[in-house]
Parts: sequence; C-alpha cells; structure tokens
Amino acid sequence: MECSRRISSFPFAVVAISLLLVVLVSVPEADAKTDPLIALENHGGKMLKSKLNLSVVFYGQLGRIQKKTLRAFLKSLNKNGPVESGSQVSSWWRMVSSYVPGAAEIKVKVVKQYVDANYSLGKVMTRDFIKILVKNAVAGLPGAIPVIVGARDVTVEGLCMGKCSEHGVIEEIPYVIIGNPETECPGACAWPFHRSDYGPAGAILKPPSGDVGADAMVVALASGLASVVTNPSLTGLYQLGEKANMIEVSTACPGMFGTGAAPGYAGKVAVDPLTGGSYNAVGVKGKKFLLPAFWNPKTSTCWTVM
Ligand SMILES: *[C@@H]1O[C@H](CO)[C@@H](O)[C@H](O)[C@H]1NC(C)=O
Ligand SMILES: *[C@@H]1O[C@H](CO)[C@@H](O)[C@H](O)[C@H]1NC(C)=O
Repeated sequence: MECSRRISSFPFAVVAISLLLVVLVSVPEADAKTDPLIALENHGGKMLKSKLNLSVVFYGQLGRIQKKTLRAFLKSLNKNGPVESGSQVSSWWRMVSSYVPGAAEIKVKVVKQYVDANYSLGKVMTRDFIKILVKNAVAGLPGAIPVIVGARDVTVEGLCMGKCSEHGVIEEIPYVIIGNPETECPGACAWPFHRSDYGPAGAILKPPSGDVGADAMVVALASGLASVVTNPSLTGLYQLGEKANMIEVSTACPGMFGTGAAPGYAGKVAVDPLTGGSYNAVGVKGKKFLLPAFWNPKTSTCWTVM
C-alpha cells in the first residue's frame, strides 16, 4: 500500500486520488479469490527472516483489554495454544513466514515496549510525528521494527482511507502503525465486528475479546506484520495496482476470514460457546483471535487459517 517513500515522491493530489480509488475498489466488495488480476510477485528485494525484533509503542490511553489482547496475539505467533481448540495463530504465522525464502518460522520478540499515555506529540499523528516515534522506538536497537499503536482518540494520517494499518520506511527503518478504528472509521476498519460502509450489510460478528477495538486492532496488526515481513523495504512481495497502489499479501484479500468468504460474509468461523465471540485461531492460554486472510502466491488464492 502507500508508504512514506511514495507519499514523499508523489504530488499530494495523486496520492489523494489513489487513496480515493482504494476506498472505491477495496474492502469487502472485491472477492480476490476469483480475481484473475491479482498476481503478486517477488521483486527480489530484502525480506525479513529468522528474527523479528519489535519495539511496541502504545500511543495514548489504550484500554487494558486492548493492550492485553495485542500482547497475547504477539506472544501467540510462535507459541501453540491448546491443540484441541482448533487452528492456531502460530499456523497462520508459519504460513506468512513460508513466503520468505529460506525462513521456516520467523521468531518474533518484543524487545521493547512503552506506553506514551500523555500523547506527547498530540492526538493527530502526521508523518513528521510518526517519524519521531519511529526513531525513538528503535533508538539503541538496530534492526528492531517499530510497531506504533494509536489509541481510539488518535487520528493517524493515512489510516481509515481504504486501509487500516500502514507500513512504510522512514530512514531505512521499516515500521508498522495501526490505530483503533472504533470511533474514527469502524465501517471501514472494524468489519466484521461492525457494520461495513461498503457492500451488502451481512452479519456482524461478536469480537472474541469482547472489545471491538481490540479485535479490529488485532486484524490490523496481523495485516501490518504480514506486509512488513514480506515487503519491508517496498521491494519484496507486491503488485502495483491501479494508480500505483501497492497490493500486498494482506491487502489482496480484504474482508475475508474463513472458507467461503464473500462480500458481507466473513466466511466460516468458529463461535466460542461461552462468550459468543467469533474466532478462527487460538493462541497462548487458549486466547481466541479472528485473523485475516492473505494472498497465497503459491496457489493464487486467498488463504484463511480456518
Ligand atoms: C502526564 O500528565 C499528567 C497530568 O498532566 C502528569 O501528572 C504526569 O506526570 C505526566 N506523565 C508523564 C510520564 O509525563
Ligand atoms: C534482536 O535482538 C537480539 C537481542 O535481544 C539481538 O541479539 C539480535 O541481533 C536482534 N536481531 C535483529 C535482527 O535485530
């Protein structure tokens, strides 16, 4: 998708037009499964393998459930949950890892995390502010990848307009940034936990953590990580779409979570009998998550963990 490098090298108007097109063409409408136009290619650039050191910045007043859910998701990437509970977050991650030549399973480690509860740079995250956060997050940690998580009252430039997470490169540091779409753009970024702004209404699912923001953020973070691993420097696995939009593994299959997904239908997922929450993967301590589909270049279809 868009990134700082592109943004800085394209006139703003072009970027604005392309963002508009993303809004028009993406999100549940497109059934990538039958889209013959999708053909992501490995452009030969660097991919991240073996180890992924993350520096996580919780920016603003995030809820306890939100931080807990995101941390549990990250922990689950390399750790199996109870096997009898169904498909695993770790299987989802191994599939992402398998796209990186020579990487069997990328080990994810949170090497630093901190909470910026006082909104030290204000509540509107422009690119200049993102740059400051990115550089602070990895100070003294060469090779670490900043993951910036904005609270619900933080507006992140570039998010909501057709994309729910962003990754880019700032001074050769690949980073991921996500927000909490609950107040700002739930219809764009909180489906299937919230009615979608696009396409048929369809059924709304209960979030597995009980918190719409937390689970929408897991979907965004999962997408962001898949993209940053396979296309960290924007020279890896992607396809240029209309108006030079970058289509990546995680953006090629919007709105799909289970087998049979279609516009307005998330696909076949499991339901927790205790909470009514919908999920497709379990992680550490049996925690349940709903993880997004991504493009499988080997089969040219969208892949879901369940
Ligand atoms: C955050 O702001 C509050 C109230 O203004 C202040 O008491 C507190 O020390 C600040 N915390 C940090 C870490 O700056
Ligand atoms: C990750 O962090 C460890 C220390 O925790 C360090 O030894 C290693 O070199 C780092 N790897 C990368 C790729 O940044």
